[in-house]
Amino acid sequence: MNEANDPAGSNHPAGPAGPARPARPAGPNDPAGPNGPAGSYDVAEPYPLRQRLALALDVDDLVEATRLARDLQPWFSVAKVGLELFSAAGPEVVAALDGCGYRVFIDLKLHDIPTTVGRASRVLGGLGASYMTMHAEGGVPMLHAGVEGLADGAAAAGCPPPVALAVTVLTSAPIAASEVLEERVAAARAVGCGGVVCATGDVGLVKALDQHLFAVVPGIRPAGTRHHDQGRAATPQAALAAGADLLVVGRAVTAAPDPQAAACSLVESVISGVAGSAKESSGA
Ligand code: C5P
Repeated sequence: MNEANDPAGSNHPAGPAGPARPARPAGPNDPAGPNGPAGSYDVAEPYPLRQRLALALDVDDLVEATRLARDLQPWFSVAKVGLELFSAAGPEVVAALDGCGYRVFIDLKLHDIPTTVGRASRVLGGLGASYMTMHAEGGVPMLHAGVEGLADGAAAAGCPPPVALAVTVLTSAPIAASEVLEERVAAARAVGCGGVVCATGDVGLVKALDQHLFAVVPGIRPAGTRHHDQGRAATPQAALAAGADLLVVGRAVTAAPDPQAAACSLVESVISGVAGSAKESSGA
């Protein structure tokens, strides 16, 4: 389920479909549907919240991953496959999660010599994923090889290429120096990456440098919850207010005693936050 050249899929205002109001996905279990809790989210946003939530499936077993994916599909439209799951399940994880109705995000954060990254990207580009990450620290030649590899692999497989995302500074790092961030964003732009992965606090600078770069933000935590190893965590409300396009949510939901209840509560907290700010700005 790859939506070519549109980092957020066809519902994103920056996508090829332009700013037109999106059709709302409205499955019976879809909280973004007309009867679901996210139905009111478009008070402040032109496209559904669910389109902006990626589920980090950081588990070491495909059966467990697809079970979580199915359980949480009402709240998330993107499934992120990181090193742990890809190492356990291999490339077929992409088709499995696509089959569960997700856009798939391969988060392997490639960082190697340009030839190796280019060749690995060629393989990954043909899997039918929607997003793929590389470390911007790898520099322009490496990122360029990755972008070309994704395009070549996708063309050979007859599918659209994944959006190349450059990881700027890991959200586990306590700070990101602005000059480092600027340099990495510049490298991403120079090679035609569609977006970057950054912390909430970095989104403003990223968008100031290029408002069209798609900003993916991990380290999402509901207010007052554990940050684990995330050095720059933020609430979903803060990330959205900063301008994040896609929020990556992992342990806040997957490690909860009841992941569905945690997902529901996270989404509802965003909706009530948005409704509150909308009231304020309208003076109601
Ligand atoms: O569980 P948690 O929400 O902290 O998971 C965050 C996910 O986002 C992990 O899969 C991690 O690999 C990924 N990630 C990150 N920081 C980045 C890029 C990706 O935490 N800069």
